[in-house]
Amino acid sequence: MSDWFKTLDGIHDRIWQTLGRGVADRKHVARTPTFTTVRDGKPEARTIVLRAADPKTHALDVHTDLGTAKVASLRQSPHATFHIWDQKQRLQIRLLTTVDILTGDAVADIWANVPDPAREVYGTRPSPGTVIPDALDYKKPADFESFAVLRCAISEIDALHLGDEYRRAAFARSRDWQGQWLAP
Ligand SMILES: Cc1cc2nc3c(=O)[nH]c(=O)nc-3n(C[C@H](O)[C@H](O)[C@H](O)COP(=O)(O)O)c2cc1C
Repeated sequence: MSDWFKTLDGIHDRIWQTLGRGVADRKHVARTPTFTTVRDGKPEARTIVLRAADPKTHALDVHTDLGTAKVASLRQSPHATFHIWDQKQRLQIRLLTTVDILTGDAVADIWANVPDPAREVYGTRPSPGTVIPDALDYKKPADFESFAVLRCAISEIDALHLGDEYRRAAFARSRDWQGQWLAP
């Protein structure tokens, strides 16, 4: 549908299509959103890989090392946003989420599907962000105990479409995902 951006339902569907593409297609821009957290009132941003997007539960998954700063921040404040700018579709997507940090038995099935080379990024020693004497003075032992899935339950979606005319739409869990137009 070429005019997806003209209706609230069209925008909502397109957001979920885009997130699905991000999970499935390594080259898609939605594969690597910016993921932001807050620590001591200060914003933090970094790139992550979008690992799962479930339109039924409105949840997104990120895989990370338990030792990273973002996990400490999420323990302090469980809120995170995802940001995607899809130049081809002229679409900015912002997603406000509340994050559960899942580990151990709860993520054993997911770990089983993480390929060996990718496992190495979980369990870096010393833990990520530690000052080291030289650039390569660290080890990557692939440690299941350090593997965490950040399950991010979306509470609010903000979409901005920069077509010939600008359109901005909001969707919220509290409104049962019924959309509203916003001034852009
Ligand atoms: C393309 C790309 C993909 C990344 N994917 C992830 C990821 O899926 N999970 C993750 O924890 N870090 C990922 N990183 C590394 C983070 O951006 C960040 O450097 C690291 O997690 C430490 O962040 P923190 O100290 O803010 O927690 C990725 C970085 C890049 C450049």
